[in-house]
Amino acid sequence: MSKNDARNNVKQLPVAEHQHMQLNQAALEAAKQSLEQGAITPSYGPWREDIIKLLNDSLATELVCILRYKRHHFTAQGLASSKIAEEFLVHAHEETDHADRLAQRIVQLGGDPDFSPDSLTSRSHADYNDSTDLKTMIRSNLIAERVAIEAYSQLIAMIGDKDSTTRRLLEDILSDEQEHAEELKDWLAD
Ligand SMILES: [Fe+2]
Ligand SMILES: [Fe+2]
Repeated sequence: MSKNDARNNVKQLPVAEHQHMQLNQAALEAAKQSLEQGAITPSYGPWREDIIKLLNDSLATELVCILRYKRHHFTAQGLASSKIAEEFLVHAHEETDHADRLAQRIVQLGGDPDFSPDSLTSRSHADYNDSTDLKTMIRSNLIAERVAIEAYSQLIAMIGDKDSTTRRLLEDILSDEQEHAEELKDWLAD
């Protein structure tokens, strides 16, 4: 059979054998119920709680990063490189924005954002650091950024098309962390 014959055969299939794309009407009706779930409708999969837990671990990571960068900002001010001390504060503000956006998404998903200070370091992927030497500060920040990049990359791959809003948020945050790591790498080399 030639290619053309094959194509003609496809065209001649009776309509009944062709699967049409159509919406799930029962799910549309179900969306009119459970209003307390806000943006979460029946098409959201069974992974809601897993995603909330993973986002809370990322929130803890961001909060620890804020504390580490603030500590470094104030202790590095007295050291030779005031420019780097100022950049630590810029990073602290960007990590604050990340934390806020993660907390907002957790609430949108019907979860509770966990700001509990007692369990912060055990839930965070990245470590706190209180060194007073500039080079050690830069190094510990670079390690933390690389850990965050690895965690966000894994999360994005895991979430895939399960939750595109959360994925886009994580992709935004990931690109900031990549910029942070690049800057720190350059300072470490200087
Ligand atoms: Fe961050
Ligand atoms: Fe960062």
